[in-house]
Amino acid sequence: MPSDDIEFERIREKLPGFVEASRKRSAHGKVASYIPELSKMPKDALGIAIMDGNGRTASAGDCEIAFTMQSISKVFTLILALMDNGEAAVFDKVGMEPTGDNFNSMLKLELVQPGIPFNPLINAGAIAVTSLIAGSSPQEKTGRVLAFFRQLADNPSLDVDKSVYESEAATANLNRSMGYLLKDRGVLEGNVEEVLDVYFRHCSVSVTCADIARMALVLAFGGTDPITGKPLIPRRYVQIAKTFMTTCGMYNASGEFAIQVGLPAKSGVSGGILTMVPGRYGIGVVGPALNGKGNSIAGVHLMETLSREFDWSMF
Ligand code: DON
Repeated sequence: MPSDDIEFERIREKLPGFVEASRKRSAHGKVASYIPELSKMPKDALGIAIMDGNGRTASAGDCEIAFTMQSISKVFTLILALMDNGEAAVFDKVGMEPTGDNFNSMLKLELVQPGIPFNPLINAGAIAVTSLIAGSSPQEKTGRVLAFFRQLADNPSLDVDKSVYESEAATANLNRSMGYLLKDRGVLEGNVEEVLDVYFRHCSVSVTCADIARMALVLAFGGTDPITGKPLIPRRYVQIAKTFMTTCGMYNASGEFAIQVGLPAKSGVSGGILTMVPGRYGIGVVGPALNGKGNSIAGVHLMETLSREFDWSMF
């Protein structure tokens, strides 16, 4: 048997036991509640799907539960904004550096000149990036985002979870103030409420672990879907996205994740993690109980276990 097949068989064999061992960590985490609808997620759920370039999937645990992408969506809106505008225009509005602050902090917008968000994965940066997505109305922009996500996930039925969208839109005072500050400083162009509406909707796209694994697979193979052979994203933009995922994708625990797991990853407050083994696998994880840094407590433990067992670290 080729060595890739041997490893995949071992993953399939070990995954259920690893999931059950990591699931226990959920007891020490907390489900996000600042978006009220998110607090309904089951605290001790843990699921994972791992997909290889031939479309084989290994999955275990609660991999069928639906969850919203939240900040995972920021990776793909960044890519879409790069495809719409090119690098120079995007990096005129957002920087390339980690902040050391919370994902929803506005601190550095005031303190550090030229007052652009430090990177596209914190909320301020993602809101600025959303304002760059092409389209003549918020409906058209949301439609383009959804079409892009559906193409990458190879799932035409991906859609916005209306309850989560409404719950975030009704409680997003901090994101709103950020949007208006960015508008005042000339970082965000267009109507602030319309930009925020597109942002809330792309954060609320409902997925399963298999959808996230499929989207990650395209990034793992440099932007070309290895299953259909279709080029979907220019390689340079995948390189940019994977670099941000490595330096800022796991909030203020990105350094620790790089050391313990060593793979590009992006998490969201719903407990999702998108990660990949470059050139080999796309991976989707969900575990709604979060650790103090806002990442899935059981999901991170599971990825640490897998990376160590199969020697996946890139470093
Ligand atoms: O804007 C928010 O707070 C959420 N829609 C997304 C937050 C999230 O997942 C954390 N981001 N880095």
